[in-house]
Amino acid sequence: TLAAGTASAETLRVVTDPSFVPFEMMDQETGEMIGFDMEIIAEVAKRAGFEYDLNTMDFNGIIPALQTGNVDIAIAGMTITEAREEIVDFSNPYYDSGLRLLVPKGNDDIKVLADLEGKKIGSKIGSTSYDFLMKNLDDNSGVTPYPGSADMYLALMSGAVDAVFYDAPNVGYFARTKGSGKVQTVGPMYEGQQYGIALKAGSEWLDEVNAALASMMEDGTYKTIYEKWFGP
Ligand code: ARG
Repeated sequence: TLAAGTASAETLRVVTDPSFVPFEMMDQETGEMIGFDMEIIAEVAKRAGFEYDLNTMDFNGIIPALQTGNVDIAIAGMTITEAREEIVDFSNPYYDSGLRLLVPKGNDDIKVLADLEGKKIGSKIGSTSYDFLMKNLDDNSGVTPYPGSADMYLALMSGAVDAVFYDAPNVGYFARTKGSGKVQTVGPMYEGQQYGIALKAGSEWLDEVNAALASMMEDGTYKTIYEKWFGP
C-alpha cells in the first residue's frame, strides 16, 4: 500500500501485544490501542518517515512473526536479550526496566524472591520474568505460566496464585490502578533490563528508528510522553 500523496512512503506492519499496561492497552471507549509504546511508535514513524498498520498479537508470537517476516516492527515493552538479538534487530534502548513481585495486600509472607520457594507464582509465558524464575528458583514447580496478564492478575486477586512476578512498571501501574487496595508491590527490583523496538533482522529501518528515538530524547518529546504515562 502507498500512503496517499507520498508515492515513496512505505506502509510497515507494526505489531504490539493486546495488553501490557501502561505501554499498550485498549481504550475501552474507542477500541484503539493506547499507551506509552503507542505514542513512541507514532512519533518514531513520523520522524523516520514511514506509515504503518498496527495489529495486535500475543506477546509470545511476536518474535516468530518477525522471524518469518510477517511483521516488520514490534513495540511491546520487549526486553533486549542476547537470545532475542540472535533472531531480530533491536533499536537502541528506550526504557529502563526490571522485574518485581506483586502480592495480595497485607500478605507479609512474601517479600523477596527466596520467599517464593514452593509457592504458587504467576508469570507470563515467553517473558523474561518466566525465564528468570526458572533459572533462579530451586523449586520452580509452583510457577504457573499465563498467556495473558489479565488472567494472571485475576488469579492473584482470587488467590489462585500467591504472587505475580513480572515487569516492574507493569505490576506497579496495575497496583496503582485496577489493583489499588487489593495488591501491592514488594521487594527489590530484579534483573535490570531495557526495552527496545524490535525489527525484522536486517531491516533497512534500523538506523532511521534509532535516529528518531535519539531526536525525541534530545528535544524533550520523549520526556513529555514518558511523564504522561509514568508521571514526573
Ligand atoms: N519485558 C518482558 C519481556 O520482554 C515482558 C514484556 C511483555 N510485553 C507485553 N506487551 N506483553 O519478556
